[in-house]
Formats: sequence, structure tokens, C-alpha cells
Amino acid sequence: MSGDQMSGDHVMPRIAVVFYSATGNIAAMAEALAAGATEEGAQVRVRPVVELAPAEAIDRNPRWRAWVENNPYDETATLADLEWADGIALGSPTRFGGPAGQLKEFLDTTGGLWMQGKLVDKVGAAFTSASTRHGGLESTILAMNNVFYHWGSIIVALGYTDPHLMESGNPYGGSFVSRRSAPPDDDALRACRLQGARLARITRQLVREAP
Ligand SMILES: Cc1cc2nc3c(=O)[nH]c(=O)nc-3n(C[C@H](O)[C@H](O)[C@H](O)COP(=O)(O)O)c2cc1C
Repeated sequence: MSGDQMSGDHVMPRIAVVFYSATGNIAAMAEALAAGATEEGAQVRVRPVVELAPAEAIDRNPRWRAWVENNPYDETATLADLEWADGIALGSPTRFGGPAGQLKEFLDTTGGLWMQGKLVDKVGAAFTSASTRHGGLESTILAMNNVFYHWGSIIVALGYTDPHLMESGNPYGGSFVSRRSAPPDDDALRACRLQGARLARITRQLVREAP
């Protein structure tokens, strides 16, 4: 643990929220998760990965084009963000039952960090949104979690760890069914906030115990 992780007697875990979003839903969930982690005393970086889709594909969807032009993020995710973080939340829309290629492409650049053992013992969690209830929420979260297994991460399940999650919840991770492109509702955002707080709390314990 380095000095900047202490605030008085409190350990401030470092949480990176790394995500892909084409039309803003996952970004809204990323911000809710980040708010939960921040409320729990974490230092948080919220970073989208770089857009890689060709302009012709983006132009076919005005909402996608608008997000690319107007999203509020100045900085995209880097390998340094992963190295910096003690805990990492991965977020992606469900794309044909799995995570978006843009996120996978970024994750596929982590071989060097992986070889050096720099991703071992990171604490991980994942979240998603799909347009249909059975359209692949769980399969997408589980696919993101596969990366955590390879890194040697400690995956934090959301479970039904708060009464709210009995109503809105998906024990695999924050999720939202976006019918007709609806933005995440309060229930989904609250679940993400709880997920961020839980990730920060558990990460803090592990940072405190680290040799
Ligand atoms: C190419 C493509 C594939 C998609 N595949 C699925 C899918 O398999 N299941 C599903 O329910 N929704 C699917 N969706 C819908 C998105 O997952 C959903 O709209 C999501 O909320 C978008 O998140 P975003 O606004 O962060 O991009 C797909 C959307 C696109 C553009």
C-alpha cells in the first residue's frame, strides 16, 4: 500500500471502472458503480475503452454517432489504469450474448501485465445491459469474469447481499434490460451503486491485509 492510499486511519482502495458503451447505458451504470465505490471511500477512475468500430457502422445508428461525438469522457482506459487499481469493474453491453469486441480488444492488450504477474490479486466485478430479459445478461458477465480468472483475480459476486437486490437484482452483477433503448432505471442504477460499494469494501479489506 502506498502513502496516497491512506486518509487519516482509513485505507482508500483504488477502483478502476473500465467499460465500453455505444449509446450511453453502460456509461450510466459505470457512473453509478463509481459513485457507490466513492461513497465507500475509494479513489475511483471511470474510463471507457477506445471506440474501434468503423465510421460506416456508427453512422447507421444516430444514437451511437451522438454518443461518439458527445460523450463526456476525455480519457480512455489504459494499461496503467489496470496496474494502478486494486479493484476493477468491467462493463459492457451484451453483444450477441457476450461482451463487446471493443472491450475484449482492450483486455487482449493486457498480456504484458499478465506475464509480469501485475494483475494477480486484483479484485474484480462485472456489469452489463441487454435489450431483452433473456438476451444474455448472465453470459456476458460470466464471459467478462473469465478474464479475471486468467489474471488470478478475486471475483466479487454481487449476490443478494442487500434487500434491494431481491427486487432488482442479478446476483452475477449489475444489469439492466433496456427495452426500446431505455436508459437504466433507478433500480438498476441502485444495484450498480451497491456493487461499487461492495467492490470497494472488499478491496479495502484485501489492500489492508496485503504484505
Ligand atoms: C450489435 C449489437 C448486438 C446486441 N446483442 C444483444 C444481445 O445479444 N442480447 C440483447 O438482449 N441485446 C443485445 N443488444 C442490445 C444492447 O446490449 C443494449 O441496447 C445495451 O443496453 C446497449 O448499451 P450501451 O447503451 O451502453 O451501448 C445488442 C446491440 C447491438 C448494437
